[in-house]
Amino acid sequence: MKSFMFVTDLDHTLVGDNEALEKLKKELINHREKYGTKIVYATGRSLTLYDELKQEQNLLDPDALITSVGTEIYFDSNYKTPDSEWSNKLSIGWNRDLVEEIAGKFEELVLQQPSEQRLFKVSYLVKEEAAKKVLPQLDKLLQKENIKFNLIYSGSKDLDILPLHADKGLAVKYLQSKWQYDAQKTVVCGDSGNDIALFSVEQARGIIVGNARSELRDWYEVNKTEYRYFAKLFYANGILEGLHHFKFI
Ligand code: GLC
Ligand code: MG
Repeated sequence: MKSFMFVTDLDHTLVGDNEALEKLKKELINHREKYGTKIVYATGRSLTLYDELKQEQNLLDPDALITSVGTEIYFDSNYKTPDSEWSNKLSIGWNRDLVEEIAGKFEELVLQQPSEQRLFKVSYLVKEEAAKKVLPQLDKLLQKENIKFNLIYSGSKDLDILPLHADKGLAVKYLQSKWQYDAQKTVVCGDSGNDIALFSVEQARGIIVGNARSELRDWYEVNKTEYRYFAKLFYANGILEGLHHFKFI
């Protein structure tokens, strides 16, 4: 296939097996050079933690960087300011202070480090057992205050509270319409709960890496279709397997 939009989560999807990552990087560099394929990272990390990973793993510069679970999109490679058109869309119905005040009432929720608290993202750590109990209660309280929000639980530990129209998938849709890639020419890759939104970008081709977490496995079991592929291999090897499956490479 010629030009396509390649979207991938970073932790435990693109990154996890160094040898496989190098192999995939070569494929992507060639494809981008030859056909203008777009490379997009969609990570839960803030820009600060993305920079750390980029240094550690010598990551390719993407054509667009989606950080903080879809709440920020960067195009220019100096990553100074997030795309303002996207930020404007997210601010509708969002009240960050009130979200923090309400969530702060639950002692089971422990705030994540300061770098991960963003304008459109309030993030906590909460164990699975506690999450089962607390999340429905939190959901109810936030609704009562008329806040438009999106609760996302990932990796059996991370809770993100985002504006209603914010997640990785909606950020990808925004890029699709900007760059004119339809579902057949879009492939998304992921391993955990915050990637479920990626696999819900209409009929985008989806690659779930073989090492996927239980929340995504469970979701896949009830959402199987021919445009979602569960790879046998792990990390970047799973991505390569899926790209061959869909004949992107
Ligand atoms: C990344 C972020 C964290 C978030 C998690 C899940 O680890 O650093 O803030 O909660 O992804 O989305
Ligand atoms: Mg991940």
